[in-house]
Amino acid sequence: MKGLLVRREDILRRLRSWRLKMLTVVGSGICRDHLTDRAKKIIERAEVVYGSKKALDNVREFIKGKFKVMKGFSEAEYSEIVEESKRKNVVVVSTGDPMVAGLGTKFHAEVEPGISSVQVALAKLGVDLCDVVVMNAHSKEVNLREIMHFLKFRSVLILANRRFDIKKLGELKVVLLENMCMNERVREGLASEMELSSDYTIIFIRR
Ligand SMILES: C[S@@+](CC[C@H](N)C(=O)[O-])C[C@H]1O[C@@H](n2cnc3c(N)ncnc32)[C@H](O)[C@@H]1O
Repeated sequence: MKGLLVRREDILRRLRSWRLKMLTVVGSGICRDHLTDRAKKIIERAEVVYGSKKALDNVREFIKGKFKVMKGFSEAEYSEIVEESKRKNVVVVSTGDPMVAGLGTKFHAEVEPGISSVQVALAKLGVDLCDVVVMNAHSKEVNLREIMHFLKFRSVLILANRRFDIKKLGELKVVLLENMCMNERVREGLASEMELSSDYTIIFIRR
């Protein structure tokens, strides 16, 4: 009887894991050549691949099934994707790494990591991730009080788009890494003298 129960549990666990494998969020890296072999295989196996236009462009040559451009990034759109994944093998491509201000937290799904803009920036700066606090100003409000607090302990790296008001960092010395792997530009100076011109900007403040 006990053996039978264990086997039943085992079958249910397998069924659940098969069900989960129907939806995978895959990181594409931020440069085209960042895509890992694992990510390529997952994308090739997918019946439907979702992502922003930019994310899909990064992986286009590996898509064998259909692809759909995500537009709203709303709860309704996420629910539709989940529904579809109950019937089909669905992949959502997230630029960089899905767990760095990406789509990895929007679904209960398997996540396949990718190389993040954070890692690329730290490699260029020669700074260890463990010495840094990473903050997301791309989709969240980041205030100066918080930044100054973290700077007591670590350097700070901020994911920013052009809406971020860099002037509020005042006389702090910053490094801006813009459009990495595209028309890349790195600038250094006082925040009060800087303007942000790209939606793909990393702001680094050394402790
Ligand atoms: C929605 S978040 C996505 C981050 C992505 N998941 C990652 O791992 O890099 C977008 C932010 O990432 C940063 N970013 C993404 N690509 C970048 C690039 N090529 N150059 C500089 N920053 C970039 C920018 O701060 C941008 O505002």
